[in-house]
Parts: sequence; structure tokens; C-alpha cells
Amino acid sequence: GSLGRFPLIPVRGVPLMSLIANNWDSIWDFRPDPSDLLIATYPKAGTTWTQEIVDLLIHNGDAEICKRAPTPVRSPFLEIFSPPPIPSGLDLLKTMDPPRVIKTHLPFQLVPPAFWENKCKAIYVARNAKDNLVSYYFFDRMNLTQPEPGPWEGYIHKFMQGQLSWGPWYDHVKGYWVEREKRNILYIFYEDMKENPRREIERIMRYLDLSVSDEVISRIVELTSFKNMKENPMANYSCIPAPVFDQSISSFMRKGEVGDWRNHFTPEQSKMFDEDYERQMKEVNIPFRTLI
Ligand code: A3P
Repeated sequence: GSLGRFPLIPVRGVPLMSLIANNWDSIWDFRPDPSDLLIATYPKAGTTWTQEIVDLLIHNGDAEICKRAPTPVRSPFLEIFSPPPIPSGLDLLKTMDPPRVIKTHLPFQLVPPAFWENKCKAIYVARNAKDNLVSYYFFDRMNLTQPEPGPWEGYIHKFMQGQLSWGPWYDHVKGYWVEREKRNILYIFYEDMKENPRREIERIMRYLDLSVSDEVISRIVELTSFKNMKENPMANYSCIPAPVFDQSISSFMRKGEVGDWRNHFTPEQSKMFDEDYERQMKEVNIPFRTLI
């Protein structure tokens, strides 16, 4: 049966799907182990790609790890609650021994504070706003648990006003950016991963205090290419046993490119978006790049 699209309910002002908002206390009280790693993103910034890279780095490029369980099961989504047969992220985490890789879309201020008390490592992945928006638009069409995206033009405004699930993109990328030094967060960019995946994989390796041979890094670059992940049922979400995604509407591994926004924004929409962006982003200078 269908789960249905969950309405958004604000948690401390951030719109979250009702199944998350209704379980908020158990999420906020979650106590990670100090050895656990957090992967945090705004939805569609490159979460799954980063999860796959981290899993392979931790397992020294062992391709079999990719086949053992789907990516979102190997590194569970902290705040996802689903009716059976999908276990909730918290239930999955209880069955796993630390060190665990834990994924979240929560903005910085909603991350359970025990992560920072325990000095857990955290990787934040950011993607330029317009590509992130386009990717989210297609995702909201095929993800049958999130609210309907509605028409494209209206969706741009919802994004700008922070009305989408998980709240404003602007606060999300800024929240982790301003905390990155104090909290020892590795802040990486989707566009950098596209430009030079090896360089970014090595950056993640050093952050995790791992030492992996050049040959294994090359294998990880290959295994985590868009083409290979799109064909890998353990990475492309085709094996998730739930009526959550309708990939006949749009693939989870949709396009995987920088600059796809040009195919969707009109020049007028782009201008309006850019002017608003200047206003919303003026107090911090996060080095996003779109022209590669
Ligand atoms: P597009 O919709 O632009 O194609 P998330 O995992 O955070 O949900 O992000 C999904 C986005 O990352 C999708 O973007 C998807 O195609 C892209 N993606 C996933 N794996 C990728 C890879 N190996 N290389 C490049 N892009 C990837």
C-alpha cells in the first residue's frame, strides 16, 4: 500500500514531515557513540554519493560491502520513521555496533546535541542552490512521502521562502558553515566532488584518519562514479522495500551534473532567484561554484 504524502509540521520553526515531528523527542535524545560519524546534508546535495564513498573508505575499497546491504541501510537515516516493513533509522542503529555512519538532513540546530558533546566527526556536503533546488523538485515528485511539489514556478518560491521539507536551504548551508571549525566538521561541495572526485575522496580519507592505497582510491573513484552508482541496485534505491519512491516518475540517480538548473530556470526566474540569494546569503561567504 501507499504511505501517503506526510504533511509538514514545524519543529522549532523548521518544517519536517509529520512522521519525524511526531517522534521528535526520541530523535533529539539520541546518544551516538563518540566513534560514530555523521553525514549531514540538505536533501539532494550528494548524500548517497558521500555515504557510498565513506563506506568504501572504511572497508578499504571492498566492493562486496556495496552488495551486503543498500546504502541507506548500511548508513541509516537518523530521523526517518516508517511503518513496517521499513525499520526506523533509530531501530536500525540499535542493531549496529559503533562506529556507525549516520545520515541526517536536519539543520545544524536540530542535530541531537550529544553528537557535539561526544565530539563525533561530521561531514557536511553542500550543493549550489539552483541545482539543489532542481534536484529537489524532481525528488519531491517521485518521493511519495513528501508533499507534492506543485508547479515549477511556485516551487522556486517555496524554496526561497524555506517552506520545503527540512526548511530553508540558506539557513542549512550557513548553519553548518559557521560551526565547522568549532565542531571539526568537514565541509565539502558537490561541485568539487564532480570536478575532482579523487581529491575529495582523499580529503575525506584524511579527515577520517584512514590510510588507503592509491590503487584502492582509484577503485573507489570508479565504484562511486555516477554511472556505476546508477546501475548499482544497492546505491540507486531500487531495492528499498517500500512504496516510497516512484522511479518511473524520476530516477533517484537522475542526472548527476553541475549546471542542470540552466535547463529549468528561465532567465527571469534566475535573475529573481539571484537577487533574493544575495539578500539571504550576504552575511557569510560560502565559496559555492557553479561554472565548472
Ligand atoms: P540530480 O537530481 O541532480 O541528478 P542525495 O543523495 O543527497 O539525495 O542527492 C541526489 C543527487 O545526487 C541526484 O542529483 C543524484 O543524481 C546525484 N548523485 C548521486 N550519486 C552521484 C554520483 N556518484 N555522482 C554524481 N551525482 C550523484
